Amino acid sequence: MTQTRIAATSGLDPSIPPEVALFSYYRNAEQHGANLLFRLLRHLETPEAQVALSQHLAEETRHAWLWTERCLRAGHKPLIVDDGYQTRIGRAAGIPRDKVDLLALTVVVEQRALRRYQRHLKSPTVDVDTREVLERVTADEAWHVDWIREEGRRIAAEKGAPERFDDAVRRYRQIDAAVTAELEVAEREQLGAVAVEW
Ligand SMILES: [Fe+2]
Ligand SMILES: [Fe+2]
Repeated sequence: MTQTRIAATSGLDPSIPPEVALFSYYRNAEQHGANLLFRLLRHLETPEAQVALSQHLAEETRHAWLWTERCLRAGHKPLIVDDGYQTRIGRAAGIPRDKVDLLALTVVVEQRALRRYQRHLKSPTVDVDTREVLERVTADEAWHVDWIREEGRRIAAEKGAPERFDDAVRRYRQIDAAVTAELEVAEREQLGAVAVEW
């Protein structure tokens, strides 16, 4: 049996609860986040960065697993996501030029994930099980943003262009805003009351 595929812009099979679609989007974003970090492993060679990346990567794959388990507890296997947030932002942003760009993109997508989880946590309708998962994943996200930002600024300064990192973050943030505005509309239509603000 093949697994069901889903995209925010497509309709939702009535046999699939909207919350399973949402958890699948979260899972997909975590997996793509892990993929970005995996790429960084080849670029950041200081021992400190390698240690931080190893922990960070372990946590992102753990988050993807927590959302996988949450889907299973909702009675469904996770859905395969086509054209999710990270795919869209990657396409709109083009290939990062160097490690400063790669780190800036990572900060923007991490901040987005954190904000979204925080918004979901504030939702009056969040159930206890989902709340626990959200609390576990958000507990890790703050240090992710901090260390990646620090590393990005350090490398940009080392290259003699300290402003480059923050410039890149601003550029990616504009792209992120355009991508999430589209997803916001599509997901509200698809998920109804279950949709979480971007
Ligand atoms: Fe995460
Ligand atoms: Fe993270």
